[in-house]
Amino acid sequence: MYRIVSAIFLAENIKKFEIEAPMIAKKRKAGQFVIVRVESNGERVPLTIADSDPEKGTITIIVQGAGKSTRELNRKEAGDSIADVVGPLGTPSHIENFGTAVSIGGGVGTAIAYPTAKALKEAGNYVITINGARTKELVLLEDEMKACSDEAYITTDDGSYGYNGFVTQKLQELIDSGKKIDFVLAIGPIPMMKAVADVTRPHGIKTVVSLNPIMIDGTGMCGGCRVTVNNEIKFACIDGPEFDAHQVDFKNLADRNRIYQHEEKEAGDAFEHACKLHGQG
Ligand SMILES: Cc1cc2nc3c(=O)[nH]c(=O)nc-3n(C[C@H](O)[C@H](O)[C@H](O)COP(=O)(O)OP(=O)(O)OC[C@H]3O[C@@H](n4cnc5c(N)ncnc54)[C@H](O)[C@@H]3O)c2cc1C
Ligand code: FES
Repeated sequence: MYRIVSAIFLAENIKKFEIEAPMIAKKRKAGQFVIVRVESNGERVPLTIADSDPEKGTITIIVQGAGKSTRELNRKEAGDSIADVVGPLGTPSHIENFGTAVSIGGGVGTAIAYPTAKALKEAGNYVITINGARTKELVLLEDEMKACSDEAYITTDDGSYGYNGFVTQKLQELIDSGKKIDFVLAIGPIPMMKAVADVTRPHGIKTVVSLNPIMIDGTGMCGGCRVTVNNEIKFACIDGPEFDAHQVDFKNLADRNRIYQHEEKEAGDAFEHACKLHGQG
């Protein structure tokens, strides 16, 4: 069992957990993830390691309640335990001094981009962060992002905070202003990552995205997470999750992620119903 040291909501439906996992805290690198099972008979949920404290022996994960398992996890509090935490998994982010690096996060993607943005800063890059949310209340990790940025921008779709518009509009403005950008990292919903790739492609800017296919074992055995990159099949759990954005088949990724939509909805509805019956709605 893995003990939860702290658990706080960062925004509605998005919770940050610090979990005791000393071996993972020691080994993990930016861009890697864990697979969590909330209960011993539960589903396997991949979650990025947002941060770690090797001295304390803890890792940080930031979880958006998307369906049954993540909502079940987000009901846990400090002092509770999680059945399984396996990792670190995946290939670490490729970090070097590119020059000027832009880190773009959309929604909970900001939490996934944070460790890599921090590592890019530590490697000597001039780091620009653009973090987008639908509205002010959903803006994540503002202080943490500022701390690892030379320039930090917040965008909101409804204009309630920061720049009024999408992250891609802000990126396009930066490019149009003549700023030389050497590297872009984009993590968020599939349409956002595709849109960023479309903005940077004509300028030949190296762009990396972190893909979120459905994962099961996380060790390259089941084939569940296969994605098409440069017309080749790759397993995101071991070959990724980060890939060259200009070579990713985003349509194939979106189609595959919809395969279990019906079952996911049924499981989510049954969970909500059970919570209401037990007065936890
Ligand atoms: C490498 C990786 C890192 C991730 N990091 C984070 C993170 O740091 N924070 C965060 O909030 N979310 C993260 N996710 C997404 C998270 O894993 C899914 O939201 C979660 O699995 C949904 O499970 P559920 O039962 O709550 O929802 P469900 O209702 O089962 O599914 C909701 C949606 O989540 C996706 N999903 C479902 N099952 C899986 C699965 N086994 N593997 C991957 N995606 C699935 C599907 O697209 C689905 O439509 C990451 C995904 C990957 C692949
Ligand atoms: S999750 Fe099974 S091969 Fe990647």
